[in-house]
Amino acid sequence: MEALKGIKVLDFTHVQSGPTCTQLLAWFGADVIKVERPGSGDPTRSQLMDVPNADSLYFTMLNHNKRSLTLNTKNETGKQVLERLIKKCDVLVENFAPGAMERMGFGWEQIQQINPSMIMASVKGFGPGPYEDCKVYENVAQCAGGAASTTGFIDGPPTVTGAQIGDSGTGLHLALGIVTALFQRQSTGKGQRVLAAMQDSVINLCRVKLRDQQRLAAGPLEEYSQHGEGIKFGETTPRAGNDSGGGQPGRILKCKGWENDPNAYTYFITQAAAWPNICSAIGKASWVDDPEYATPKARLTKLNEVFGAIEDWTMTKTKFEVMQICNPLDIPVGPILSMKEIAEEKTLRETGTIVEVEHPERGTYLTVGCPVKLSASPAQVVRSPLLGEHNEEILKSLLGYEDSELEDILNSGAIS
Ligand SMILES: CC(C)(COP(=O)(O)OP(=O)(O)OC[C@H]1O[C@@H](n2cnc3c(N)ncnc32)[C@H](O)[C@@H]1OP(=O)(O)O)[C@@H](O)C(=O)NCCC(=O)NCCS
Repeated sequence: MEALKGIKVLDFTHVQSGPTCTQLLAWFGADVIKVERPGSGDPTRSQLMDVPNADSLYFTMLNHNKRSLTLNTKNETGKQVLERLIKKCDVLVENFAPGAMERMGFGWEQIQQINPSMIMASVKGFGPGPYEDCKVYENVAQCAGGAASTTGFIDGPPTVTGAQIGDSGTGLHLALGIVTALFQRQSTGKGQRVLAAMQDSVINLCRVKLRDQQRLAAGPLEEYSQHGEGIKFGETTPRAGNDSGGGQPGRILKCKGWENDPNAYTYFITQAAAWPNICSAIGKASWVDDPEYATPKARLTKLNEVFGAIEDWTMTKTKFEVMQICNPLDIPVGPILSMKEIAEEKTLRETGTIVEVEHPERGTYLTVGCPVKLSASPAQVVRSPLLGEHNEEILKSLLGYEDSELEDILNSGAIS
């Protein structure tokens, strides 16, 4: 049994942030109806195309398990169809530019009138305030949410991260808001508005950096490498390179083969409890009791020396050997995995995190399956829909249109 079976989602999302949210709901069993502009559909269908005349990976990897309905919501007949959809569905999800739903004639007021139990969920770039009307993309959110100012090295510029925390991160936040609102609706019978602003989601994910901002008032952030290097702290949380965020010093270190392989590196944390094991593994047994190195505090000013010695050792091992040796010793390490290694990793295929999907236009492609595993609601990845693939099915069986009415809708230009 799928957890969200019976929940109908009117999916007005496009690009990445909204589609990641509705894809999750679809994996948990909701019937997600993706409403797209006739002719072109979600702009990502034709962005970064790698196979001629086939939906791009950008689109297919974000829109699994959905049905596609083309509908011109600015056409009069299209508006009538949309009204019927709103009456039938439980949740409307959208990530249009601010004001677009209102301009379409379907703002929150109207939605509530048409279906008071509907949940209307939106991704916007910013919450209410001076920037609320701005259009926002991934890297803008990373910058406005504090991620870029705290990422990178102290002597380099602000840096964005490869993880799409602004788009996919906000989609995740929105999905949680939606299921929470669905839960509340069980007792109130009423819908509500759910908003996830991209800036807010990134700030939430940068929570520990705001923690450090406040800690600065009490003195230098001693676990940051710059402290040991004698570099003064300024007024704001600095970029911490590859330091670990949890107060236990950590760095990325070279492993065997680093000269030719850009990813022959390991993450290595000198967790206090693991110190004796680290010392014996790297051949520095004398450091265990030496007061110059024995305590975390004593080591803070010598992190370059300590990590230098550890790196001398990791450079004699592959990143996987480091993992094999350190794991049984409770030393926290992690290989730097390339996307190629992730794509080829057998266990990720077995758990359904990396999945092969068959698509009629593009053949077989790889995608990321549902990252959250529910024991009683396993997610099956179904290929993304072709543009308008389910038009007739949705209009007839969900919305109850007769054949003659269907013809009128077709003739009106509302769906094609
Ligand atoms: C992503 C974003 C910047 C793209 O902006 P955009 O390309 O200008 O697209 P919009 O969302 O403004 O939509 C464009 C228009 O298409 C219209 N449209 C979309 N689907 C339609 C349909 N099925 N039928 C008719 N019109 C449709 C919209 O109503 C809007 O019209 P309007 O400008 O007259 O109101 C913007 O949507 C945005 O800021 N979204 C919120 C934040 C976000 O999710 N950003 C990350 C995206 S990954």
